[in-house]
Amino acid sequence: MLSFNVGLYLLIASLVVFHMIPSPVACDDKEKDLLRDINTYRKVLNLPVLDENKKASCLAEEIADDLEHAHCEDFRDYYPTPGNNSKIPNFQKNIDKCNININATAEGVIMPLCVPKLSLDDLFSNYTKSNRFTKYLNSSKYKSAGVGSEDDWMVFIVSTNTSSGDFSFSSASSLLPHFLMLAFFFTTLLLFFN
Ligand SMILES: *[C@@H]1O[C@H](CO)[C@@H](O)[C@H](O)[C@H]1NC(C)=O
Ligand SMILES: *[C@@H]1O[C@H](CO)[C@@H](O)[C@H](O)[C@H]1NC(C)=O
Ligand SMILES: *[C@@H]1O[C@H](CO)[C@@H](O)[C@H](O)[C@H]1NC(C)=O
Ligand SMILES: *[C@@H]1O[C@H](CO)[C@@H](O)[C@H](O)[C@H]1NC(C)=O
Ligand SMILES: *[C@@H]1O[C@H](CO)[C@@H](O)[C@H](O)[C@H]1NC(C)=O
Repeated sequence: MLSFNVGLYLLIASLVVFHMIPSPVACDDKEKDLLRDINTYRKVLNLPVLDENKKASCLAEEIADDLEHAHCEDFRDYYPTPGNNSKIPNFQKNIDKCNININATAEGVIMPLCVPKLSLDDLFSNYTKSNRFTKYLNSSKYKSAGVGSEDDWMVFIVSTNTSSGDFSFSSASSLLPHFLMLAFFFTTLLLFFN
């Protein structure tokens, strides 16, 4: 039988592992409001509304987390281009975290924006008045969106419904990490209460 300390250690370790797996559902009101407003804008332009793309939202959340300590100036003159994410910090690491196939991001566009206190008016007017963003937000090619925010940073991602832009699963089984985590968690619980 394992000692209490080992059981406790394993329980804490499994909780840490649990928290390292990004949760795809973020209930941030600012994000919902921005998506709703942008969809209203698109309806006025007779464009299809953007459904939420959970994978893209996971990625947007991770990118926003990484940008949290960046200066606003770093992305003030950022012109997003489909598939060219060379300026986005830790891009490869973050798509791996969200279990996204890099080839499924090629046609998508990632639009980070820094606005003090995430004022919804400033966000909306920046996204819908600045040419570098409206180029994408005006396009019927995009069918879904991912939204994430942290501190003063908003990250809005538009995605297509094609395999080269839908931010879908990587070829590696996405269920495996969760399955392993659950197995680890329950083994730990068993050991703990042994
Ligand atoms: C991608 O962006 C980098 C710098 O942001 C630039 O140097 C490069 O030319 C761009 N590549 C393409 C294919 O647009
Ligand atoms: C992405 O596409 C390239 C070229 O088709 C291929 O070599 C690569 O393995 C693909 N990557 C993934 C993660 O599927
Ligand atoms: C964008 O947001 C900034 C605040 O960060 C604001 O000062 C500026 O007026 C906004 N620009 C547009 C075009 O809405
Ligand atoms: C996007 O649509 C708005 C509203 O029709 C228009 O003012 C703006 O110039 C368009 N932008 C681009 C890049 O087409
Ligand atoms: C993508 O959207 C277009 C237009 O809405 C539709 O015709 C097409 O069937 C969709 N493709 C997939 C793979 O869902």
